Amino acid sequence: MIVWQINNSSTVLSNTLNFAIVKSITWKCPSNIALVKYWGKKEGLQLPANPSLSFTLNQCHTVTTLSFSEKEDDNTLLVSFAFDGKRMPSFEPKLEKFFKNAESMFPFLTRYLIEINSTNTFPHSSGIASSASGMAALALCLCSMEQEISGSVSGGDFYEKASNVARIGSGSACRSVYGPLTLWGETEHFAGSSDLHSVKIDLFHPVFKNYRDAILIVESGEKEVSSTAGHALLKDHPFSMARYDEANNNLKKLLKVLQNGDLKAFTDIVENEALMLHALMMTGETPYILMHPNSLAIIKHVWKGRKENGLHLTITLDAGANVHLLYPEEEEDKAVEFIRNELLQYCLNGQVIYDKTGEGPLQL
Ligand code: PMV
Repeated sequence: MIVWQINNSSTVLSNTLNFAIVKSITWKCPSNIALVKYWGKKEGLQLPANPSLSFTLNQCHTVTTLSFSEKEDDNTLLVSFAFDGKRMPSFEPKLEKFFKNAESMFPFLTRYLIEINSTNTFPHSSGIASSASGMAALALCLCSMEQEISGSVSGGDFYEKASNVARIGSGSACRSVYGPLTLWGETEHFAGSSDLHSVKIDLFHPVFKNYRDAILIVESGEKEVSSTAGHALLKDHPFSMARYDEANNNLKKLLKVLQNGDLKAFTDIVENEALMLHALMMTGETPYILMHPNSLAIIKHVWKGRKENGLHLTITLDAGANVHLLYPEEEEDKAVEFIRNELLQYCLNGQVIYDKTGEGPLQL
């Protein structure tokens, strides 16, 4: 297990922390899949260039336990982090940056020794982004720690602060603190929306309550270009302004669809968003392609298949090769049969994660 001693600008490895645990907090937090994508940032600390909207998932989640004990000095931040009981050097730069930014929101942190243990319920090698569920789980643990120490969280509502803190770790993570539908980013189309935190969408058509998401695993391992680099490439992208306009238009249309349950319009908007995200990657100054030939094969089969079987199958993509296949609960049996017969052949080792929309995080 790694132990950091985070000083102002440097991270120093020291010995494993051995302390009598005073208190432990555990949160289980799901990942999410964006329907309108966040892609590109404004000036500031992780602020979105356009509003985004997502389904919160149910099966793909991170479980994080934060344990803390008071220490003698209060001038250094001492944190240990283990993933599946092991040190994870690839997570450390992101966590270090997160803690440096989060310190001002939790000024008491330097008074404690903090041990964090995290694990995912989905395979780490499946290529599913775990930063959304991981950062949100950590933010929820820190808010619970503050509540434990001070009796309440500073700056207002518990979940609002957790979302705000999660955003600092990973933008899309701020949408994981509520389920099943959340919106992040200020927009005139949704009252109370903010760039700082997500908001829960309370009223929606019942068809979206248990919407299915079959995640078709095409590729595993690290992405060639990180999301951080991808967001940065939008800054000088020739289509960025048109993209932000389109995202706002799609958001407006999708908010209407979430009320009226028009599944044909849902497919049109969600697929337009997914393909635009990947088109932006291919058309910037430094072009790159994250789709795999099997991602395209799946998309083409879904488009052909749904014309024949009439199912409401919708594809979407994250910044990666895996394809999320969305469909309503009532069509589950036929959709699963279609996946088995037509799509499994394109999945890495036949891997599919059958997930659905969920109610959000849970303190254990
Ligand atoms: O939260 P980040 O910085 O990993 O960016 C996520 C970006 C997308 O997954 C592509 C879209 C989204 O809104 O989740």
